[in-house]
Amino acid sequence: MLKKLKMANTPTPIEKIQLVDADLPANLYVKRDDLTGIGLTGNKVRKLEYLMKKALDEGVTDVVTCGSIQSNHCRATSLACAKLGLKANLLLAGDENEPKESNNFLDYVSGATQRYISRYDFDHNRTELMEEWAKEIESKEGHKTTIWPEGASCAVGSFGYVDCYEEILEQEEKMGVEFDTIVVTTGSAGSFAGLIYANKKFGKDKDIVGITISYPAQRTINELVPPILEEMKEYDETDLEFTTDDIHVIDGYQGLGYAKNTMEELEFMRDFISQTGIIIDPVYTGKTMYAIFNELMNGNWADKKNVLFLHTGGAFGWTREKIDQLQGK
Ligand SMILES: Cc1ncc(COP(=O)(O)O)c(C=O)c1O
Repeated sequence: MLKKLKMANTPTPIEKIQLVDADLPANLYVKRDDLTGIGLTGNKVRKLEYLMKKALDEGVTDVVTCGSIQSNHCRATSLACAKLGLKANLLLAGDENEPKESNNFLDYVSGATQRYISRYDFDHNRTELMEEWAKEIESKEGHKTTIWPEGASCAVGSFGYVDCYEEILEQEEKMGVEFDTIVVTTGSAGSFAGLIYANKKFGKDKDIVGITISYPAQRTINELVPPILEEMKEYDETDLEFTTDDIHVIDGYQGLGYAKNTMEELEFMRDFISQTGIIIDPVYTGKTMYAIFNELMNGNWADKKNVLFLHTGGAFGWTREKIDQLQGK
């Protein structure tokens, strides 16, 4: 049984969404994992609770991980390392000369070491590059490294979303509501995999829907989620059986691509924020909420009664570029 280090403000609340300008055909609730913390916020901190505990128990001094220049995972890792006296070493896809802002600025002020690589190298060589870097660090006396994959999406981290699922079951009892559907943004797919795992582990049959905002659905279904589930089974020593039918991914809401937005999406996000006071972001949760509205309003989810959106954070995604785009600058 894996242990964790308490870092997130949990349990996070569940709220019902009330909107002025839309009559939704189902009840829409939000699980506020955007409130897990300020810097250590969103879904990443639940994963880090397990990964950090393991790293500290193993005497790790340096974490090596990777992400895009505005990675929420890298920012959360930097802050967690700063808090716990470890060194964060970040392999970032992007341009070193870009002015530092948002997540990337927080990496910097947290004291993380940053190395920049091209998007091509990120897509094709990131694992080798992280391994080389870890070897370099270990060659110095007294340093011990751990390597965390993109988004901390590995079995250990994904147990954070088994905990989240358990929290949801407890909240259902208290609220007297049963959620038939849980919708989550999926990128590197660790949060999604954790929820799918928990759904089976706790003997439930909720529709766990992943809205993919970067990878094509087939890749998520065939390559990203299954290895995480398999490794989770090993940690738990269970014989739970999963098939691709358990992995419900909706494609098409990547829109213009990862971290790119249409004006329609951004205006939708602004309207949603102005009516709810809940910040959704252009890269992850805003695209998912846009998907939820589309699926509900176009009748695709006519069988659903109580839909729970798992808000995974991401507010730092409102970079200058996005703000300018929304304001037509
Ligand atoms: C705000 C936010 N939501 C969702 C995700 C996707 O989570 P996962 O990597 O577990 O698929 C990310 C990942 O970077 C994120 O930053």
